[in-house]
Amino acid sequence: MSDRYCVLGNPVGHSKSPLIHHAFAVQCRQPMSYQAILAPIDGFADSVRRFVAEGGRGANVTVPFKEQAFQLANRLSSRATVAGAVNTLLFDGDAMVGDNTDGAGLLRDLTLNLAFPLAGRRVLLLGAGGAARGVVAPLLDEGPAALVIANRSAARAEDLARHFATTATVVGGDYQALAGESFDLVINATSASLAGELPPLPPGIFAAGSLAYDMMYGDGARPFLALADRQGAARLADGLGMLVEQAAEAFHLWRGVRPDSAPVIAMLRGVVPDPAARR
Ligand code: ATR
Repeated sequence: MSDRYCVLGNPVGHSKSPLIHHAFAVQCRQPMSYQAILAPIDGFADSVRRFVAEGGRGANVTVPFKEQAFQLANRLSSRATVAGAVNTLLFDGDAMVGDNTDGAGLLRDLTLNLAFPLAGRRVLLLGAGGAARGVVAPLLDEGPAALVIANRSAARAEDLARHFATTATVVGGDYQALAGESFDLVINATSASLAGELPPLPPGIFAAGSLAYDMMYGDGARPFLALADRQGAARLADGLGMLVEQAAEAFHLWRGVRPDSAPVIAMLRGVVPDPAARR
């Protein structure tokens, strides 16, 4: 009998998680299965309980259920508590442990795969929604010289910065406030591309040698990375590496072994277009 895992979302048909975890399981010789489950918009908790009753051992949680998973878990990791959202559940007897591996996944992609250390760098985070919130603490842990959070509604960015203001290095505001500033790393955590729009970046944002990173991957990352390319970013990256690294963190939590992410990123790149590839 193999152990059962799943990803719960709505929609979930596009999810690459089954492909990723199947590849990890083969690589690490783990007897497990992994499926995508479409949870009704008003039926997330019921779907989780049914999966547990059927013997499920763990689950990933994606849009729009990460905050509900945070409420449902009866034990939380410190990084889930800080993020206010859960993307990974572990079922152990009566315990439903909630964790959040998104921030760790982003940091592993930046510092290991892209060899872009953050200590002493100036970092700009675009957006102040759930995706941005999950990565603020892990970014600050790396010791950047500054972390600026810019958002369409400035108050939301200011609130987020205030929430994490244990040091003087994090501030929030609107896009106009960025005029005259430049950054070594610019991370797009907005959903603007989904509406066919772009965050209104003033010119001069990208410092010499800077990296533009979109937390979306494939075609979803194309509009922002094209903008960054036009505005002079030296390097471009989509979030495919983050996707695989957050999965590797979840796999490690569930199975106690850390898969090698590089061959899985390469395998996915075969089916996901690379918007960072320059002509
Ligand atoms: P997610 O969980 O993906 O972060 P969210 O919590 O709805 O989703 O947050 C979406 C983020 O994208 C917000 O920062 C939002 O800005 P506002 O807080 O001002 O709404 C940002 N966003 C969405 N559409 C945008 C657009 N067209 N231009 C700029 N920012 C946009």
